[in-house]
Amino acid sequence: MNECVILHDVRVIDPGSGTDSVRDLCILDGVLLNVLPDGRDGCVHVDGRGLVASPSFIDLHCHLRQPGSEDKETVRTGTMAAAAGGFGTVCCMPNTRPPMDTAANVRALLDIVRTDAVVEVLPFGTVTVGRLGREVADLEGLAVAGVVGFSDDGDYVLDSVVMRDALERAAELQLPVIDHAQDGGLVMGGVMNEGEVSTLLGVPGMPPAAEELAVCRDIALARTTGAHVHIAHITTGRAVEMVRRAQDEGLKVTAEATPHHMVLTDECAIIVEGQNGERGFNNQAKVNPPLRNSADAMAVARGLADGVISAIATDHAPHTVGNKQGSPESAAFGISGFETALGLVLKRYHEGVVSLPRLVHALTCGGAGILRLPDSRVSFPDDSLVNLTLFDPDYEWTVDSAHFLSKGKNTPVDGWTLRGKVLATFIAGKCVHVDEALRSRCTGGDITSQ
Ligand code: DOR
Repeated sequence: MNECVILHDVRVIDPGSGTDSVRDLCILDGVLLNVLPDGRDGCVHVDGRGLVASPSFIDLHCHLRQPGSEDKETVRTGTMAAAAGGFGTVCCMPNTRPPMDTAANVRALLDIVRTDAVVEVLPFGTVTVGRLGREVADLEGLAVAGVVGFSDDGDYVLDSVVMRDALERAAELQLPVIDHAQDGGLVMGGVMNEGEVSTLLGVPGMPPAAEELAVCRDIALARTTGAHVHIAHITTGRAVEMVRRAQDEGLKVTAEATPHHMVLTDECAIIVEGQNGERGFNNQAKVNPPLRNSADAMAVARGLADGVISAIATDHAPHTVGNKQGSPESAAFGISGFETALGLVLKRYHEGVVSLPRLVHALTCGGAGILRLPDSRVSFPDDSLVNLTLFDPDYEWTVDSAHFLSKGKNTPVDGWTLRGKVLATFIAGKCVHVDEALRSRCTGGDITSQ
């Protein structure tokens, strides 16, 4: 274990206190010191020039698959992948087997988390029993067991009476409801965004209207109940505008964007196959909600830039190789997202669409604000156990999913060159990930993860 790490000349973006400056940081026995120890021997010195240090990232939305689908991911592998992506805190969705619809199920998950997780894990409970959309789950019992909000993610709560009842109860508990906003009937059987590309490929589409109808209803219910409705993985420009208007009205409506919906488009779903160069559908790009067209992806990125969308969330959704094979209709929805999240969102920074401090804010304060975590989690208070992500916004690397720490190798960006990489992640004073690329910047020893 390293006792003393000094990051020299690193750009410290501290969104909690709104500061952004180049300085030295010292981590001694996991505690952040603002005054460097005098002439101490045995420190690891890191050349931090060109690097950024921020509070470790918070992911509001991921799938760790345990219990029930350990062939896709476990708490252990998922949180190792999260650490590699710079995330010190992740919120896991309740579509496990069994789902997190009872306090007992949540307690059993938290027992696994205590022994196996390498980063902080905060669970969501379901909105409805069995995620079936019929009967509201025991939200009060789930809250006592430790959930940080409720979601039937993967499915929309179609019945408005059930949703209103759930929102009223969630409001009493002062917890958010995370809304998978896709009108079920309209997306039934769909594989990708409904538009020119789905027509070209001849596969069933999922219309943007499915999201916009769902967002519209849930904003109306947020108004009726006073509850906090959080729109998960928003994808359309019109949905972003609805959220903006709801916020202008003073409603408790927030939204998150995934790296893939901010950057990728439905054209990623085109693959050229066979000797005749026929175009087919790339199952790796199958995700729910679907990748939209470039105008929508840009509208989401701009919504993130101007703050209507407060958080970046990965929707890390690992699957086995087999789950992603087969016909477009039978392949599973989802992208393994932890390890490419930063490299993808930085694309919008390198294009000049979003500033670096704004991206860092969305990766940290965004989630913290929605979960109402203490300000100290997204800042660098003196003499406290450090939560820190160190990254190089310019480091170029080629995605090779075979090297993912996640069991899920499913990504449409395999083989892509991304610019920007996480070099180290600390949570609660522990270094939980170090990238090989950091070694050449270290003198006096190496930083090692614990
Ligand atoms: O693409 C997705 N995959 N979207 C979801 O909402 C669920 C997720 C999963 O669990 O695989």
